[in-house]
Amino acid sequence: MYLPGLAQYTLYHMVSLTNKRIVVGVTGSIAAYKSAETVRRLRDAGAEVRVAMTRAATEFITPLTMQALSGHPVHLNLLDAQTESAMGHIELARWADAVLVAPASADFIARIAHGLADDLLSTLCLAARSPLAVAPAMNWQMWDNPATQSNVARLRERGARIFGPGSGSQACGETGPGRMLDPQDLVALLAGMFETGELAGLNVLVTAGPTWESIDPVRVITNRSSGKMGYAVAAAAMEAGARVVLVSGPTALAAPEQVECIRVMTAQEMFDAVMARVDTAQVFIGTAAVADYRPAQAATTKIKKTSATLQLDLVRNPDILASVAARTPAPFTVGFAAETVDVERNAAAKLRAKRVDLIAANLVGQAGSGFEADENRLVLIDASGTTELPLLSKLRAARELIHHIAVRYHAKNPAENPRLAHRQ
Ligand code: PMT
Repeated sequence: MYLPGLAQYTLYHMVSLTNKRIVVGVTGSIAAYKSAETVRRLRDAGAEVRVAMTRAATEFITPLTMQALSGHPVHLNLLDAQTESAMGHIELARWADAVLVAPASADFIARIAHGLADDLLSTLCLAARSPLAVAPAMNWQMWDNPATQSNVARLRERGARIFGPGSGSQACGETGPGRMLDPQDLVALLAGMFETGELAGLNVLVTAGPTWESIDPVRVITNRSSGKMGYAVAAAAMEAGARVVLVSGPTALAAPEQVECIRVMTAQEMFDAVMARVDTAQVFIGTAAVADYRPAQAATTKIKKTSATLQLDLVRNPDILASVAARTPAPFTVGFAAETVDVERNAAAKLRAKRVDLIAANLVGQAGSGFEADENRLVLIDASGTTELPLLSKLRAARELIHHIAVRYHAKNPAENPRLAHRQ
């Protein structure tokens, strides 16, 4: 079977599945051996995986194998006190960002098409509100049977995604449609489900990381920014379908795949890089912690420690965010506000002073969020109000921010994409 766009999905899947929570359901089919590889590839792509198996599946592959590969106990039956007390099936259904049943036998497809909930996996499929993907695996005559075709059509109508099946030689020795897709294709298709397309076709310019302002050839003035928040914003914008340029100060991070990364050192270099590209950007997001001041004159040789005190004359750096917002026409302009006290009040003042469309404020100076941490708690402020996000991984926080931006961008520019103009 020809699957258009697979190669393209493959390019993106490392980013799209990072931190995604995937339940892999395994049912009774000879293709169950491929689910071990599917779980391994999902984890390689950054997903968190839990496995649920039907009784028939355990005849083909052992729960121990799946436990070792997923790193968690396998969910087998509704009455298992041990796994149910660790994470019950309803909790598991709520936990999942997506459920992938691979392989899905003809019998299992029939059961979920009719809403049966007579074992743990079918109950979980019924309880889950997250997207469901099903990878059929069966003999070609079973696949061709009108009963199976009508069950598959019924699942599709309810929004389930049907991955495959592929066509080729089958375990029974016959040839035809019904082969489960290969694990790398399943992972790529699953990743594609998370691409929202909310920023499709737009150019997004993001700044990230700190800047370094030279005092002399060996010393700099800088701050604690690691770049994690800005790189996550770039990755989330890319996932949403945008073409992303990331202007980054010095960090130890690798640029997200498919993002054009321009490395700079100083605030002036960051300013120049942004100004050279801002006219083609529809959205600008200033996540960088730009040094407000730099030494008036950087010494050309290392300053010797000859006196007890040393005075440095500092001069103001250009304000990149304010300069972008002041352009006509200006892109949809988003600033960050790093505050140590009165987060909302100070951020609202920045929203007005810098005349930006949206401010993402965060508390800094405390462990666990803001600078360097892996998580952040953002407060999003714009003219229409304030949205407080919970403490989230930086990638999840970035995805929420990008969704927020997309909704407001399309409301402001309804002619560009009427389909997205009224989304919440
Ligand atoms: O990099 P991490 O370790 O992941 O940390 C993330 C972060 C804490 C750096 C990030 O979440 C954040 O808050 N970034 C903005 C930091 C900052 O400089 O805030 P500010 O309140 O001083 O500046 C307000 C806004 O003006 C920011 O969008 C900043 O990029 C921009 N600015 C500031 C000064 C300047 N000369 N030019 C600017 O564009």
